[in-house]
Amino acid sequence: MAQCVWRGEEGYSALLATLKEKKVKRLFLVCDEALRFLPLEGFFTAVEALGITVTRFSDFQPNPRYESVAAGVERFRETGGEMILAIGGGSAIDVAKCVKLYSGMDSGTCYLEQEVVSNGVELFAIPTTAGTGSEATRYAVIYYQGEKQSVTHLSCIPTGVILDGKLLKTLPDYPKKSAMLDALCHGIESTWSVHSDEESRSYSLEAIRRIMEWMAPYLEGDGQAAEEMLLAANLAGKAINITQTTAGHAMSYKLTSTYGLAHGHSAALCLPRLWRYMRGHSDRCVDPRGREHLVRTFGELAEALGCPAGRLPEDRLAQLLRELGLKAPENWRREDIPKLAASVNPTRLKNNPVALDGKALALLYEEILSKKVAEG
Ligand SMILES: [Fe+2]
Repeated sequence: MAQCVWRGEEGYSALLATLKEKKVKRLFLVCDEALRFLPLEGFFTAVEALGITVTRFSDFQPNPRYESVAAGVERFRETGGEMILAIGGGSAIDVAKCVKLYSGMDSGTCYLEQEVVSNGVELFAIPTTAGTGSEATRYAVIYYQGEKQSVTHLSCIPTGVILDGKLLKTLPDYPKKSAMLDALCHGIESTWSVHSDEESRSYSLEAIRRIMEWMAPYLEGDGQAAEEMLLAANLAGKAINITQTTAGHAMSYKLTSTYGLAHGHSAALCLPRLWRYMRGHSDRCVDPRGREHLVRTFGELAEALGCPAGRLPEDRLAQLLRELGLKAPENWRREDIPKLAASVNPTRLKNNPVALDGKALALLYEEILSKKVAEG
């Protein structure tokens, strides 16, 4: 079933009408600490006026741990939750997705070891960052014994989402830029993914166009631009929901954990060099649609990024990073390179249209970290 995407104030009325229609009496709210800074008192007053008890669950950190999710499931059961509402960034939405998926499963066995059984618990989401697009995907990321786990199930895609630009007003500069670049990378990687199709490309190219169009006013704090950016991130989320991400994201995770960069910042650092490498090695194209298809795709991406004729889109991207003041980390050492190259998930690399071996990855990491990106 297609997801309901509500924009602005109409979203709250639609959600209240849904709660009323479904006769919900116990709402389970998964949210991060930022909730208290958000102008949502009016909405919660209206929820309570419907006689609905709200149980709030915030006992998790960014990059949520499995134990936090399991505690959330426990709390959901104890309080007899009937519907879940997630308000927050990607982590809050991912926790809510897992609570929904695990709520009908056996609590005596690790949820990650069980097959997911669909249930009728509905999930709604109100994202407070414009970037991850988690509210549009079937993926959730949690950490078990320090290891990243990708939980994937179609039934965890929220039934409805509210895109409300005013919730982004208090977002600090660095997470705001980084999240925006995350959405941009989702759009670019999804477009060139070997799994792209007509539907995914309609989402991904539209997302890129919107991000480029609204970026400047968004970064200046314009309310309408914030809503457009939320929509762009949602579209990019819909695109990766079909295609998954590719080598850029696969390479970015270790940069994030090693150097403490934000996710979108890491992903965006990888793309210009990766793109240049792919252009130079298009003879290693593994997309069954062939090299010509890949070259055409690069052209479509250049157009969506608003690249002037004669300018390469990868250079435009490098320039954008410079304009945003986002640099490669300073604290890297040459001996980090083999560890970084070995960390890349080979399954994720299979989505990439150009084959990359360990040697290519090492070369790319070196180029990215030695700030050759900043040189354009
Ligand atoms: Fe991402």
